This record gives sequence, C-alpha cells and structure tokens, in this order.
Amino acid sequence: MLKDALIDVLTPQERSELYSAFDMIGDIVIVKIPDSLTSKKELIANAILRKVKPAKSVFAQVSPVQGDFRIRDLEFLAGENRTLTEYREHGCRFKVDVAKTYFSPRLSTERLRIAKMVSEGEVVINMFGGVGTFSIVMAKIAPCSTGRPCKIYNIDSNSHAIDLCAENARINKVQDTVIPLYGDAAEAMVRLRGIADRVLMPLPEKASQFVDSAVSGLKCGKTGIVHYFAHIKADTKKAAQGRGAEDTDLAFKNYQHSIAATRVVREVGPRIYQIVSDVLVKA
Ligand SMILES: C[S@@+](CC[C@H](N)C(=O)[O-])C[C@H]1O[C@@H](n2cnc3c(N)ncnc32)[C@H](O)[C@@H]1O
Repeated sequence: MLKDALIDVLTPQERSELYSAFDMIGDIVIVKIPDSLTSKKELIANAILRKVKPAKSVFAQVSPVQGDFRIRDLEFLAGENRTLTEYREHGCRFKVDVAKTYFSPRLSTERLRIAKMVSEGEVVINMFGGVGTFSIVMAKIAPCSTGRPCKIYNIDSNSHAIDLCAENARINKVQDTVIPLYGDAAEAMVRLRGIADRVLMPLPEKASQFVDSAVSGLKCGKTGIVHYFAHIKADTKKAAQGRGAEDTDLAFKNYQHSIAATRVVREVGPRIYQIVSDVLVKA
C-alpha cells in the first residue's frame, strides 16, 4: 500500500528498499525510512499525505519501541505537527498520543479474541493496560457476547497512558466498569489481592517477572485465567507456538496450572514472535 502511494516519487529500486509496512493510527502515519532514502523523506511524507486519504500527519519512526513505557522516538515529517489522534476499533474510540504512549493497531484481533472470552460479572485486572485498549474493548464487547464484566482494573506506570485511559473510558461510556490505576503493576497488585477471575499480562518483554503478582490477583481457591504474553525466538511460526507453550509452562511451574491454548499473535522481528497463552491457574 505504501509502495503504491509512492509510485510517482520513487524509482522501482527505491520502492523496493522501503519497508512495505507502515502504521496508520487514526489520522497519523508512522513510517520507517531506510538510511538510503533519508534524503527523500519529505518527498515520501508529502506523497503519503496526498495519496493516503485519512492521513493528516506523517512521522518517521527513528528508534525501536523501547524503555519501560514501550514507546518509540518519532521525527515529524509533514502535515500537522501533533501526536494526539483518535483511533477506532470494534465500535470503540481511543484517544492515543503516539509519542507518549504505547499503541499498536496490530493487536486488534487479539483484543477482540480476549474480549469474547469474558463472562458476565467477571472481575478483570489488566496489569499493563496502557491507554485502555484491551480493557475498553472487553467492557464494550462483552455485553454483546457473553455478559457485562463488572470491573476491569487498568494498571499502567505511564501517567500519560492512565490519563488517556480515564478519558477513553468516559468517551466510550464505560467509566463505571474500567478503573484506571496509575503505578507499578507489582505494587498495585498488592492492593488488588484475590479479587480477579481473569488477569491480562500484555508486556511480553517482562511478563515472566510478574507471574507471582498476576496469580496473587486471582480469587483464592478458584481456578482463574491468566493471559500471558511473551516473546519467543524461533525459526517458524509453528515452532514459536510450541516453544511459547513450553515457556509458559516454565513461567507458571510453581502453580497448579494448565494451558488452555497458546497462539502466535504476530511476528515482531526476524525470527521473533509474540505469543499469548491462556493459562488456567488454581490460586
Ligand atoms: C506493550 S504495552 C501494552 C499496552 C496496552 N495493553 C496495549 O496493548 O495497548 C505495555 C504497557 O505496560 C506499561 N508498563 C511497563 N512496565 C510497567 C510496570 N512495571 N507496571 C505497570 N505498567 C507497566 C507501559 O507503560 C505500557 O503502557
């Protein structure tokens, strides 16, 4: 799609050097420009503005997603110089600041999958909730499928993400269901001990360090569900799924557990896959 938009401004050789993927978040486009095309970045950005209709701003991604807040450095290239936008998905609206908060449109299918598993009256803790994406889709979708969850705690240590989560809960009219909590997940879980039916751990880089905290949030004496995200090195998607299940088993070895399913969410780098396991844990 990106290469097609650039047919008039780049040669076939230059187009082949460009990454075919780019992120479109609301009306903001984030593109990775290889070193060989740096001199043409403004030309590329202006072509995107002309050809990709909803685009109002174009930024270059100049670092990987990094740091505790999982954000990426951006360089403004063309259009309106702002990083706040609104993204729509599954009937929900999300205000997202693409410079100050994590957001990926590529997790949309996973958000819907987990939302559809939530049953009526569940208490859910999202330990790494960001601007509220998983939490708000759960709160909005669950009533249509299996019943309304009663409370979803959305924890994040990035204050910008928590402010936007509060606003997103309001604009989606789920502020009575989604409770934003600012702070470190391990500390917040001490206060949320033994209350949850389901815990989400969408921080694949570090989830293994928070397993004890996650399990401590589940209702005592009951079997709860933990959605455990991890990054797995493997040569193929199939191998990643198998290794993901082994990795999950190891992470929960101190608890009575079984893995209902492990799936590959997406490829996040050369031979690195993001997986999610749905783990049934007796707390
Ligand atoms: C990969 S993002 C996922 C955000 C959100 N679930 C989503 O999919 O849009 C991980 C989030 O965890 C937050 N985070 C990182 N370390 C944390 C910690 N120790 N306690 C709470 N939140 C943390 C980051 O700020 C970031 O928003």
